[in-house]
Amino acid sequence: MKAVVLSDWGGPENFAVQDVPKPAIKADEVLVKVKAFGVNPADFKTRTGNAPYSQKYTHPIILGWDMAGEVDEVGSNVTDFKPGDAVYGMVNFPEPGQAYAEYVAAPAAHLALKPDTLSFEEAAAAPLAVLTAWQALTQHGQLKAGETVLIQAASGGVGHLGVQIAKTLGAHVIGTASGKNEAFVRSLGADEFIDYTQNKVEDAVHDIDLVFDTAGADTIFTSAKVLKPKGRLISIAYGAMDKVLAERPDIHAERILVHTSGDDLRTINQLIDEGKLKISVSQVLPADQMAEAHRQLESRRTTGKIVLTF
Ligand SMILES: NC(=O)c1ccc[n+]([C@@H]2O[C@H](COP(=O)([O-])OP(=O)(O)OC[C@H]3O[C@@H](n4cnc5c(N)ncnc54)[C@H](OP(=O)(O)O)[C@@H]3O)[C@@H](O)[C@H]2O)c1
Repeated sequence: MKAVVLSDWGGPENFAVQDVPKPAIKADEVLVKVKAFGVNPADFKTRTGNAPYSQKYTHPIILGWDMAGEVDEVGSNVTDFKPGDAVYGMVNFPEPGQAYAEYVAAPAAHLALKPDTLSFEEAAAAPLAVLTAWQALTQHGQLKAGETVLIQAASGGVGHLGVQIAKTLGAHVIGTASGKNEAFVRSLGADEFIDYTQNKVEDAVHDIDLVFDTAGADTIFTSAKVLKPKGRLISIAYGAMDKVLAERPDIHAERILVHTSGDDLRTINQLIDEGKLKISVSQVLPADQMAEAHRQLESRRTTGKIVLTF
């Protein structure tokens, strides 16, 4: 089979499409014939060799966690899926998922049936980002109807799904991004928009119940500042949480890591089926343009998600 193989740590020029052996499946696994696979910032951080996840690999390696495709074969213990089923999932995160490939061996527990309303490209774009947004807002952030949530980087892979999930929960949603993304963020249902390049977020809002910060380490202090007393800050980027809490000891601040969950994906499927959650794919690239996909992701200027196909 073909796979996008990374020959060495460093830049995206180290990617090449190569022939590699098809993976073998274990009793609890499913062999998926991949129709499309997604990329996330965690991928480029791993690629450099400097991310915590990098240490889990030795070269030549196959990166990637997000994919969608058709079940080709199931292990002897698998009862939830059968050959021909259309599935999607985040495979083995943060262990190697090896999703940049034509076939992926995935634990059945990491997969869900693909909603009919999603294309394979949309489904491949979704898992890591949508699980992150779902777990951040519902499980860690405990967002309730009537509360106000600020979503930092509302136009990004995670943020654009966070806006829509927060709306379905009945929250008042404020999104941040640069002005070029205002129409997009408002189209997702955001009630208010802040162009962070033109306004200081802390001048524009205050007394927020929950901030979901997907923008990065730079925004974390602002995110803490705009919370009401006892407000909640959920961050997914590396940041100085201890310093944040020293400044705002009255808030709950937490950095979370997404976890693989077929059950969460099945709950999310209901929102997708009801038309309440749309996956925005800004680009579909051929697999041999993985370097370009990583360059764009690293610019931190992409809108929605990028996916690739063989
Ligand atoms: N801990 C976890 O479990 C977990 C899970 C998923 C992702 N992450 C991390 O979370 C971060 C976001 O992931 P992602 O996939 O959503 O990233 P992404 O898609 O690359 O985010 C890009 C978006 O961020 C916006 N942006 C950049 N800087 C901003 C700022 N200062 N204020 C507001 N918006 C800003 C950009 O909008 P403009 O172009 O308009 O500026 C762009 O649309 C990454 O660092 C990723 O590694 C962590």
